[in-house]
Order: sequence, then structure tokens, then C-alpha cells
Amino acid sequence: NKAISNERKSLKTAPQVSGMISIVSHLKDVFQQAIVAAFPELNNAPCVVTESPKADYQCSSSMAICQLLKEKQIKTSPMEVAKKIIEKIPYSSLIDKTEISGPGFINIFLSKDYVKQAIHSILNDGVKPPQTEKKRIVIDFSSPNVAKEMHVGHLRSTIIGDSIARLLEFMGHDVLRINHVGDWGTQFGMLIAHLEDRFPDFVNVSPPIADLQSFYKESKKRFDEDEEFKKRAYDRVVKLQSGESNSTKAWQLICDVSRREFQKIYDSLDIKIVERGESFYQSRMEKLVKELETKGLLEADDGRFIMWGDKNDDFGGIPLTIIKTGGGFTYDTSDMATIKQRIEEEKADWLIYITDAGQATHFKAIFSCAKRAGILDSSKIRVDHVGFGVVLGEDGKKFKTRSGDTVKLAELLDEGLKRSIAKLMEKERDKILNEEEMKEAQKNVAYGCIKYADLSKNCKNEYVFSFDKMLEDKGNTAVYLLYANTRICSIARNLGEEFLKSLPKLKKETSIELEHVKELKLAKVLIQFPDIIDRILRDLTINTLCEYLYQIATTFTEFYDVCYCIEKNKQGEIVKINTSRILLCEAATAVMSECFKILGLKTLQKI
Ligand code: ARG
Repeated sequence: NKAISNERKSLKTAPQVSGMISIVSHLKDVFQQAIVAAFPELNNAPCVVTESPKADYQCSSSMAICQLLKEKQIKTSPMEVAKKIIEKIPYSSLIDKTEISGPGFINIFLSKDYVKQAIHSILNDGVKPPQTEKKRIVIDFSSPNVAKEMHVGHLRSTIIGDSIARLLEFMGHDVLRINHVGDWGTQFGMLIAHLEDRFPDFVNVSPPIADLQSFYKESKKRFDEDEEFKKRAYDRVVKLQSGESNSTKAWQLICDVSRREFQKIYDSLDIKIVERGESFYQSRMEKLVKELETKGLLEADDGRFIMWGDKNDDFGGIPLTIIKTGGGFTYDTSDMATIKQRIEEEKADWLIYITDAGQATHFKAIFSCAKRAGILDSSKIRVDHVGFGVVLGEDGKKFKTRSGDTVKLAELLDEGLKRSIAKLMEKERDKILNEEEMKEAQKNVAYGCIKYADLSKNCKNEYVFSFDKMLEDKGNTAVYLLYANTRICSIARNLGEEFLKSLPKLKKETSIELEHVKELKLAKVLIQFPDIIDRILRDLTINTLCEYLYQIATTFTEFYDVCYCIEKNKQGEIVKINTSRILLCEAATAVMSECFKILGLKTLQKI
């Protein structure tokens, strides 16, 4: 025993802990040290630490280490390995005790003092992100196409992209939100030609186009049927791309109409984004193509010029088309130019693209070709394509209106508002809330539900759009969580002005008691926040945050059902306030509120 404690002294102690930290990464550090000390003969021994329902956390590396030792002709068992690791665990203020379970799992129990300290830090320093190196990030999301409709797919991209951007901003990164609007390409030829006929004086008088989609349809019809018109349309594209002034003016007018429509959606949903459409890259595409040519990366293929990804990459198997037959550029060309612009001009060290999963091969090829061209150094720059599944209607078919048209987003949001007010009336909220509060509740519930329904599912899967489901007040839904949060908030508020004023002082001075198992359980969930954030950052799965939010709400209910925060006598007068528990409620809404902010949901003061 003496030998062990001496050895322990010679080990480094784990880093000093203060405030909220990622518990899993701290425990990984601690166990990594122990494993290295216990088995110096192994390099690269794995260190796996995860949350565990039985203990608080668990290290499950013993079996793999045992295997590695066997390969070195050292005979042992996972149990022996576990024992040796435990002997070498350096001191950490987070760990209360460890235990071997099963064949050699090491269960790790958190020290209650650490849990108390972390709750104290939530109350006094706020809910802080885990420490990280600050990055410059360009995130490309929403990105609808001018004149074509902005559809539910773009809504998904908008909601998911906004939430990921919020998370990265919360982390303190320098985030540029880019709306890569489809504002360039051959369709503009016919739109311009049609505009000239319909509104000959467009240069002087702004054309009153209300419905750009039917304008698009009209011009498409003429394009398909009228050879003369088709010729003129081609001519207008060439004029536009060479910067001729009337065609440019017409193009701007058309883009303005779309822009105003898009902006209405962004305003409703509180989305901030910088428009930088495909047109921005015209001159850059020209330069890029020269660069690829000089580097000998383009290959002639039946009149067009293509570029293959790196043989060593999974680039999707399909080459990029860099120059079309006839000389034009493509979607591929534009994305080669965006990646170059974002790395070289924006100096980004992390690029994120959010589109439907159907574009996965496109982005694989883009990333691989960018590497081949020396534009992307993947050891320095992180690139992610977040692909999401298609949106289905309740009938399981592609989301359409009854008449088979694509659903207009503005109409969808209006429908949400109608459904949400009906729900609030059904719950007789109008008896409690005044007119203004009702309006706010209506909006926050409607838009909150639409966002949350999307964010709470694994985005890779198809997604069934159902107002009935998203407005349910049970289960992992926005309505349930917004209600839960408002109720938790009101616990302290109901104690009156005086109490609220004393809160800051109480937060500093009260020692948090975690005597009841349900108190301790809730506290342990709350302090996992940095771990949850870390996990989401790894693979950008925002639904993890929704699951966590739901876990807080349900754990809170378990706590609140059995732990009195306030005791009243028969007359309904308050006879006892359990300050420590009130503070635990405050910590719970603090964490929940931060989650809501990251998800882009607005909470309600009263409901
Ligand atoms: N406009 C495209 C679409 O509607 C999405 C663009 C995504 N961004 C990009 N850089 N390719 O599918």
C-alpha cells in the first residue's frame, strides 16, 4: 500500500478544475494518464470513457488493453488490467470512487462536492461553453434559388443551419453565415427576355411582379414553345454575364422580388444571414478555371471539361463538370470557386454546407477536387457537408398541397400561426394572458414548433411534416418544453419581488444541498451541458441537444414531484422556502434557456 501511495504522488495530478467543464474529456485525461503509467510498454493504448446509466461514467478500455498485451505475449485478464489502471489513477476532484464491474469495466462515480461546485458555477458565472480554440467558420445554409420557389427543403436547411451557426457563435467562434442564393445561370436569360416583353419600360418603372413563380412558369412555357424567344433568352444570358447594363438591371429587378420574399421568411423565423449568391463568383470562376487548366487537372470529355477527385479519396465516383459543352460553367464550377474564396479570401478554417442529402456526392467530389487542386489542406481545414432527408407529408409522400403543388413557405408559416392560436385558445390561455402576451405566445409556439420538430429528429432521415404532431403538448415537443421551462422559471418568480431581489446574494452564499437522490440526479444532468456541446460539435447533430433538453425536463419533473421547494400551510401561506432547491430550479432554467437559444426558440415569460 505504501508503494502505491508513493507512486501516486509521483504521478501528475489531473488539471485543476474550476467552473463548468466537459466531464468526459477530463475523465479521459485522467484515465489516459493512468493507463500510460500502468502499461508503459504499450503505446497507443485506447482510452474510452462514456456516460453510464449504472455508474455515472465508465471506462471500458480493459478488454482492448488485455488484447494488446496478449499480442506482446503478456498474459493477463481484463480484471487484472482494470485493477492496475485503478491503482494509477491520479488525484481528481471530480472522482468520488471507482469500482470494477463485470469482466473489467471501471465504473466512475462523481464526487458530490464537484457536482455542487459545478451547479454553483452555473448560478454565478452563467452557462458557459467548453473552452476551445477560436476558429473562423463559414456556414452556407438556406440558399434558395431566385424565381424558383423556396420550398420545405430550404426551410430545413435554414432551420438546421441557423441552429448550428448559433451553437458555433455560442462557442465564441467567428462565424460568417452565407446565403448562397441561386441567382445565376441560364434560367435568367428567359426571365430577362420575358420581362422585356411584359414590362418594356422596366428600366424606368419598377415592374410590379407579385408572383415570381408564375412569372417563371410563363417564361419557361415560352422558352419551350417559341424558338425566337429561346434565341433571345440565350442572347440575354451572354449579355448578363458580360455585364451589359439593361440585362443586368433586369436581373437585379428579378432578384429583388425574390429577395423580398425570402426576407419575410427570415424575419418571421429570426434568421440572420448574409446574401452572397452564385453571381458573386462569376469572375472567380473564370480565374479558377484558368488555374485548373494550368495545373493540368481538366480532362476533355465529349465536348465538356471534367475533373476527377483524388484516387485515394471517397470522392463519390463521379467527376465534376467544370466547363459545359459550349463553354458555360456549372454548379460544380461555382462550388469549386466558393471553396477557394472561403479558404483564401475569408481565411476560414472550417467550412460547413447544409443541403439536402441528395447533394452528398456533389460535395464529396468538391472536397476531393479542392484537395487535388491544392486549395484545401485537410490537415488544417475542416469541411463538413450536413445532408438532410426529404420532407414528407403525413401520407408518407413528398410534401405537397392537396392539389399537388409545392407548399409555399409563407403559407405554411401562416398555417402554423393559425394552429398555434387555436391550441392556446383550447387551453384557455386567453383567460390568463393579455392580448399582447397572447400574440407573443402564438408566434413563439408556432415558429418554435416548426423549428423544433425539424431539429429534434436526426436530420439524415426523412422527416414527416405534421402540424398535429408538432403541436402536441406531451413528449419531446416544443410545446411541452416551452411550458416546462416557463413553469420552472415561475417557481422563484412566484415568491415575489423581495425574494427575486435577494437571488444574486443567495446564489453566492447558499450552499447547494444535494441530499435527495432526485436532487443529485437533476444536478448531474445539468452539469453534462459541456459534454453535450462537445458531442454535437463532433458530428453536428443538433438533435442531441433536443434529447438533452427533454432529459432535463423529465428529470426535473421527477425531482419536483418528490422534493418540496416551498411548503405552505393550510391557509396557503408560505411557511418554508428550501433555498437550495429553488436555486437548483434556477440552474435548470439557466441551462434550458441556453439550449433554447442555441435552437433558435424564443421562451415565454408567461404561458
Ligand atoms: N441553391 C442550392 C439548392 O437549392 C443550394 C446551394 C447550397 N450551397 C452551395 N454552396 N452549393 O439546392
